[in-house]
Amino acid sequence: MSSLALLHASQLVTLAGPARPRVGKELSELAIIRDAGILIRDGKIERVGPSDEIERILNANCIQDLEAARNVKTVDLGGRVALPGFVDAHTHLVFAGNRLDDFERRARGETYQQIAEAGGGIWSTVEKTRAATEDELFNQAKKRVDWFLKCGTTTIEAKSGYGLTLEDELKILRVIRRLNDETKLEIVPTFLGAHAVPRETSAAKHVDLVINEMLPLVAKQKLAEFCDVFCERGYFDLEQSRKVLTAAKMLRLKLRGHVDQLSNSGGAKLMAELKAATADHLEKTDEQGIAALKSANVQPVLLPGSVYALGSTSYPHARAMIDAGLAVVLATDFNPGSSPTASMPMALSLACTQLKMSPAEAITAATINAAHSLNRGDKIGSLEPGKTANVAVFDCEDYRELAYWFGISQVQGVYVHGQQI
Ligand code: NIG
Ligand code: FE
Repeated sequence: MSSLALLHASQLVTLAGPARPRVGKELSELAIIRDAGILIRDGKIERVGPSDEIERILNANCIQDLEAARNVKTVDLGGRVALPGFVDAHTHLVFAGNRLDDFERRARGETYQQIAEAGGGIWSTVEKTRAATEDELFNQAKKRVDWFLKCGTTTIEAKSGYGLTLEDELKILRVIRRLNDETKLEIVPTFLGAHAVPRETSAAKHVDLVINEMLPLVAKQKLAEFCDVFCERGYFDLEQSRKVLTAAKMLRLKLRGHVDQLSNSGGAKLMAELKAATADHLEKTDEQGIAALKSANVQPVLLPGSVYALGSTSYPHARAMIDAGLAVVLATDFNPGSSPTASMPMALSLACTQLKMSPAEAITAATINAAHSLNRGDKIGSLEPGKTANVAVFDCEDYRELAYWFGISQVQGVYVHGQQI
C-alpha cells in the first residue's frame, strides 16, 4: 500500500458536486478549496481538504501503522493551482504525417473545402495512413501522447477514420488500444469509419461497407466504445449518417457525431433523434438544433481550436447552449488538418475569448462534463474521494490564469493514478 499527499495548493479546484453533467449556473461552481491538499492511496483519492487537515490524517495514519508510514510521500505544491487532469473528449490521435501543405495553402487564402477538392484534406492523410505500418503509426502517435500529458490532459477520446478500409480502420483501432495499454494516457476509442468517402468508391457503397463489414468486427473485437460519423455536404448526408449510427447503436456502441460544422444540415436534430451521447462541432447549429439537443440531453462538444486553425470566425453559440441548459463540453479536436493542437489550456483561452464562456465554465466543460460525455463521470473529471488520482498542477495562483496566459505552458506536474509522470 502506498500513500501520497499533495499539500499546499493555493487553490484545489475539486469540481465536487452532483454525480451528473453540470448545467446552467453549476458550470461556474468549481468547489475550490484554498491552501488545500489531497491524500492519495493506491492511485485513488482518499481525502481532499485544507492542508492542515490532510496532514493531521496522515500523521494519525502513520502512528497507527508504522509499516504504512514508510510508504508515505508528501509533495509541497508551493501555492500552485491543482485541478483534475483534463479530459479531452474529441481527438483524432492516430494518423501518419502532417498537413503542412494544407496549412500553407490556407495561409494563402484557400478554404478547407477547396483544399480537400484539390487532393489535400482528409484524403491525403488517409493515403499516408494506409501506407504506414502499425508500428509506424504507434511511434508517431506516442509522441503526441506525450504532448497531451505535458499539457495536463490525462484522458482522451481517440477516433479512427484515416484508414477507411476494413483492415486500415482495424489497424488504427489496434494502435489506439496499444497506446492505451502501453502509455500513461487513458484513451477511449471511437470508430469513425464514415469520416470521408474513399476515392475508390461512392458514399452509398462506403456506408454499406461500414455497416456490413466494419461495424460488426469492431464490435466483436471490442475495439471501440463509441461510433462517430462526419455528417456534412460532400461527406455523408443525413440519411447515410442515420444509417451508420443506427447500425452502431444496434451493436451497443454509444454515439457521437461531427455535425453542423461547415453547414447546418440538421445534424444536431439527428443526434437528438438517435439519443447520442454527444453532438460535436455545432458551429452552424441554430436555435432549433439547440432545442433538439436539449430535448434529448445530448452533450454539445465544442471545438474552438478547429475554427481558429481554419482561420474562420464561425464559432459555435456556446452562450445560447448554456442558457438552454446543455451540459457543454470543450475539447481540442486534435487532428492534422483542422486542429493541430493537443493543448486544453489553448482551448480554455479560445472558450473565454471567442465563445464568451467564463474561465470557470470552460474548466467544468474540460473536466467533469467531458468525463460524463465519455461515460466515466464516476471515475475521473473531479477531485473527490473514490475517484482516480489524476491531477494536473499549474504554476500559478489563480485558476483563471489557465485561460488568461495563452501560448505559455504553466503545467508544473501531472499525476496519473497517483504517480507523477
Ligand atoms: O473534426 N470534420 C472532420 N474531421 C476533422 C478534420 C479532419 C481532418 O481535416 O483531417 C474535424 O475537424
Ligand atoms: Fe473531429
